[in-house]
Amino acid sequence: MYIKNLNLQNFRNYDNQIIEFSPKMNIIYGHNGQGKTNIVEALYFFQSGKSFRCLKDREAVKFGEDYFKIHALFETNQGSSDALVFVQDKKSVRLNGIQLEKLSELVGEYNMVIFTPDYLNLIKDGPGVRRQFIDSFISQIKPTYFKNLISYYRVLKQRNNVLKQKSKNMISTLDIWDEKLASLGVKINQMRSSAIDKINETINIVGDGSFITEKIKLIYTPSVKGDFEDKNNFLHQLYSSRERDFEKGITLTGPHRDDFEIFMNDINIKKYGSQGQMRSCVLKLKLSECEIIKEKTGDTPILLLDDILSELDEERRKFFLENINDKQVIITCTEKENINFENCYVFRVENGKVIKE
Ligand SMILES: Nc1ncnc2c1ncn2[C@@H]1O[C@H](COP(=O)(O)OP(=O)(O)OP(=O)(O)O)[C@@H](O)[C@H]1O
Ligand SMILES: [Mg+2]
Repeated sequence: MYIKNLNLQNFRNYDNQIIEFSPKMNIIYGHNGQGKTNIVEALYFFQSGKSFRCLKDREAVKFGEDYFKIHALFETNQGSSDALVFVQDKKSVRLNGIQLEKLSELVGEYNMVIFTPDYLNLIKDGPGVRRQFIDSFISQIKPTYFKNLISYYRVLKQRNNVLKQKSKNMISTLDIWDEKLASLGVKINQMRSSAIDKINETINIVGDGSFITEKIKLIYTPSVKGDFEDKNNFLHQLYSSRERDFEKGITLTGPHRDDFEIFMNDINIKKYGSQGQMRSCVLKLKLSECEIIKEKTGDTPILLLDDILSELDEERRKFFLENINDKQVIITCTEKENINFENCYVFRVENGKVIKE
């Protein structure tokens, strides 16, 4: 899949900009603060329906204006398709001219894998970042997962509201929420577990024969102990932690507290890995994400690389570039990159204006 063109209106520091992309390599370069990441941010809206940089859509509206509009034309293995995101007081999304009822209907439509300078956080940070990674990954190959996840978080919120009231005569209400939480929760556990299995099958094959020889393995550490796919087991654990849940006013068991650990040659990379090993690990993780999306959907995802090439040393950079030449790649950088790719378009960005060279 690839994006043919993008139109930005009142988005961040852009007035009205059209960019025609190459189906292969696109290099967007320019000084700091000129609007490179803003383009990546706009593109990613079509994958997730929201910004990867801010929580409030309105922050992306150009200062002094009251709406933004981004429109993109894609070519997928199903043919041409277009999407429009319009944000004023509310957000509205149109897919091939049809207004979507729910944002979740957009997820899974356009697959993208994004790589930003804070990528090492995937290893270094707390479990939330890893859950986000796995959730976004599965949502792209199984849109039903995303819908399930939204329902799970909705039920979780209701259950936590009951817990916060600290009134034990709400027990019967709690029973209802527990039942719903466990039904949705086991599905999430099951899909996360098989996604991690799939990554383990793929991660040591991508770019095989490269300089990264260490064997990488992910281990799922679900919050529900024992058989995490068994609803009764889940229910039992919710039931036994009720006292503690009431005390804390939150639900302490469930997929919202899951994590996974990453091992390199049986060494826990978060605890003992070097900076370079962490880099290699995330590179491979991202490449296997691309591979699996391609395998499961029959279409290559679009790869967005925001300012990361300069982060990589010569060897990793070579490894990475060799492994991405089958898909559309959109790279931003501050210095014009010299990349030997067929069909390579180069754009210079200056103060919210994009000029094709
Ligand atoms: N809502 C907005 N309205 C107008 N301008 C904005 C808005 N939000 C951000 N900007 C401007 O966009 C610019 C930042 O754009 P962006 O993050 O894309 O820069 P960049 O080219 O990626 O820079 P760097 O190389 O430092 O990463 C800044 O000049 C900022 O003031
Ligand atoms: Mg930037």
